[in-house]
Amino acid sequence: MAKILVIDDDVSISETLELYLTEEGYDVVTANTGTEGLNRFVKNSPDVVILDIRLPDIDGFTVLEDLREENENVKVIMITAHHDMDSTIKAMKGGAFDYIHKPINVDELDMAIQKALKTYEMEKKIDGLLMEPSRQFKVGDIIGSGREMREIFKTIGVVSQTRTTVLIEGESGTGKELIAKVIHHNTAPDEPYIAVNCSAIVETLLESELFGHEKGSFTGAISRKLGKFELARYGTVFLDEISEMSLNLQAKLLRVLQEMEFERVGGKDRVRVNARIIAATNKDLKSMVQENRFRDDLYYRLNIVSIRIPPLRERREDIVPLVDYLLTKINKDLHKRVLGVSDEMMDIFMKYKWPGNIRELENLLVRAMVVSKGQVLVRGDFPELTDEGRQPKPGASESATGEPGKLLTLDEVEEHYIRRVLKENSTRNKGEI
Ligand SMILES: Nc1ncnc2c1ncn2[C@@H]1O[C@H](COP(=O)(O)OP(=O)(O)OP(=O)(O)O)[C@@H](O)[C@H]1O
Ligand SMILES: [Mg+2]
Repeated sequence: MAKILVIDDDVSISETLELYLTEEGYDVVTANTGTEGLNRFVKNSPDVVILDIRLPDIDGFTVLEDLREENENVKVIMITAHHDMDSTIKAMKGGAFDYIHKPINVDELDMAIQKALKTYEMEKKIDGLLMEPSRQFKVGDIIGSGREMREIFKTIGVVSQTRTTVLIEGESGTGKELIAKVIHHNTAPDEPYIAVNCSAIVETLLESELFGHEKGSFTGAISRKLGKFELARYGTVFLDEISEMSLNLQAKLLRVLQEMEFERVGGKDRVRVNARIIAATNKDLKSMVQENRFRDDLYYRLNIVSIRIPPLRERREDIVPLVDYLLTKINKDLHKRVLGVSDEMMDIFMKYKWPGNIRELENLLVRAMVVSKGQVLVRGDFPELTDEGRQPKPGASESATGEPGKLLTLDEVEEHYIRRVLKENSTRNKGEI
């Protein structure tokens, strides 16, 4: 739900706007002075502000400046009293997004708000802040037919009716993030899905990534930054590799889960968490708890619902359908028309241990399909696998990026592939000119 702050000293206007906008489905906060407006802004982080130019304490232009100093991306719609072009121009120059005239015409207001929200969303996406998965993830995207997988489907169905915290455990490449995305899409498809890798960043940065920070809270904090918990709104925060979180941050996360509130780094205001938290790990958290490397209270908080994905070698019945599913997917991505793998290859797949699980299978297929000339993938297309089909030979072949033996995600292979096609096309086009 988009949040709108209305700052107008005319109570009849702020109340009417509040009623109208609430009816329209917005989350509305009002203020009647500039100071109150700025306070509400800091506390509530609205997406759009509707601001009267004339206010009793601070004038609207100064408020606009202060708002933009707090968050330069904020979209401010000014209300001007008369057809006063000078003040309107001044407001637009000061960074207002749009302006409307009193008496307020609702159509004009609606249009201005919608345009502001759209721009705000787009800018956030461009900033890479909102990492919404580009497509819908359905339960049907998870291949699995055994008893354990069927139990997992059931659990996904049940948790999608709730907003409880979910812990997903499974070896690398077993589909933890896929399951998180499916839960998200079944629960709050229109809200953001934001993934945070807890091992990728240093502790202090991770803290401000999660909780955000206030302007000036540390050197380099030149403006206020919203954290992932806030940005996710009513969506999902996916905490990947939770086992790698420092004990210090674990304590802070525990508090957030207990109180569903937190403070931005360097701030005093309490911010509410509305997002669902899904954590994932490929480590055995329970034994980490026994070794005092993971807080037991946090473990129990996260583990309210747990999903344990079995490794591929323990559900070999899924290998054939997975190969089918992945071939179709990769054919589409790489514009190929591969029909299947040879019987010999399938036998090897059925015996192989799959330490990298489904991601490894996917990578093997992608690499084979990039080089293969035929419609059926044969033994020679998989030089990484030894004849016994047990362990990959380290550095046995060049990967699609030219780095030997590196396991790639499909995204990386795709990116590499697209870059190559773009490069080839640009050379070709240059030749034509
Ligand atoms: N059951 C499944 N059916 C279809 N595709 C799957 C399944 N499980 C995983 N995949 C695919 O395999 C790849 C790896 O899955 P994902 O990234 O979710 O694994 P992960 O457990 O998060 O791995 P890691 O621990 O390495 O981060 C993805 O492309 C995903 O779509
Ligand atoms: Mg993952």
